[in-house]
Amino acid sequence: LNTINFTPGPSQLYPTVPGHITTALELGVPSISHRSADFAELYASTGAALRDLLTIPPDYHIWFVGSATEAMERIIQNNVRNHSHHLVTGAFGHKFADQALGFGRLVSITEAPWGDGLDLDVLDIPSSAELIAITQNDTSSGTSIDPAAIRRLHQRYPDKLIAVDIVSSTPYADLDIASTDCAFFSVQKGFGMPAGLGVIIASPRALQRAEVLKAEGIPIGAFHSFPELAQSEAKGQTPETPNVLAIYVLGAVARDLAAYGLTRLRTELASQAQAIHAYFDQHSNGSILATNPDHRSHTVIVGQLGASSAPVIDALSARGIKLGKGYGKHKDTHIRIANFPAHLGHTDQLLSMLEEHFPQNA
Ligand SMILES: Cc1ncc(COP(=O)(O)O)c(C=O)c1O
Repeated sequence: LNTINFTPGPSQLYPTVPGHITTALELGVPSISHRSADFAELYASTGAALRDLLTIPPDYHIWFVGSATEAMERIIQNNVRNHSHHLVTGAFGHKFADQALGFGRLVSITEAPWGDGLDLDVLDIPSSAELIAITQNDTSSGTSIDPAAIRRLHQRYPDKLIAVDIVSSTPYADLDIASTDCAFFSVQKGFGMPAGLGVIIASPRALQRAEVLKAEGIPIGAFHSFPELAQSEAKGQTPETPNVLAIYVLGAVARDLAAYGLTRLRTELASQAQAIHAYFDQHSNGSILATNPDHRSHTVIVGQLGASSAPVIDALSARGIKLGKGYGKHKDTHIRIANFPAHLGHTDQLLSMLEEHFPQNA
């Protein structure tokens, strides 16, 4: 049975990934020393591919870490002296705030009701907050924050650092990296790769802030502190033995997505998202959790079935379509459908199977 994973992460592999892994094995990539010129070249080439795809400014750093959760922790540790303010639209926004609480920082939160988004243009950020933490797309609730609103927030609060979780939206989200200080993701979502690599894209200001904190005697960590990451990066290295295979595959997939065309990718994914939203909007029992279309995620769609979701999930699974369960306490009543680049061209099949097992006019 050919399975398509619409689970939000790990998700369906991007179709070119198996081929890239095979090539990497043939080339001996996993055995490359992370202190060699070959690795420095690989770091540079994956970095260049990401810069090109995501329009990362030349003076921004690209650092490889273990996961997105690690990125959250490192950002708090290196960029927050006392106080971070968190925009929370679901469980992953809370996770970010939890990292700050774990370091004993003062945490303030603006939280949307579950399934609602936030209108950043009307928000007041506490003056003592040094950093604003934003989950641009919350995978638990299927809500997202308009990337253009993040740019406007940066313009309103130019002195505050802005950290943005783009785990389940990149590369679909058209985020202006230059209006962020740290943007971060892991590779098992939009890049359609096996899990095990996180990426932090950091502004020069984020690195400077870490250096100031360090000079003040605030512990900023050791091997993955921003200054350590930057020093290694300058040599084309990582502080530790990294996931070389994943760094190789990430560069290859980033080039594939660029070759496909980001504009085309975004247009096609937007229309797939619309089709899935429309299915639920026209359904007599089902609905999209995020009622406000402006706050609906296009990359992780959370549907409410009006009853237990298990029979629908099981029926589709038996036919090779894997849907995500709801998040946390909504496990049994929601479904989550990923709409990543790996899902291009698969929505029609998904919707026709939904119509068989969860018909619009039951
Ligand atoms: C929005 C968001 N942020 C962070 C994470 C954590 O990512 P990781 O498991 O790679 O640390 C996830 C994982 O699902 C996520 O969806």
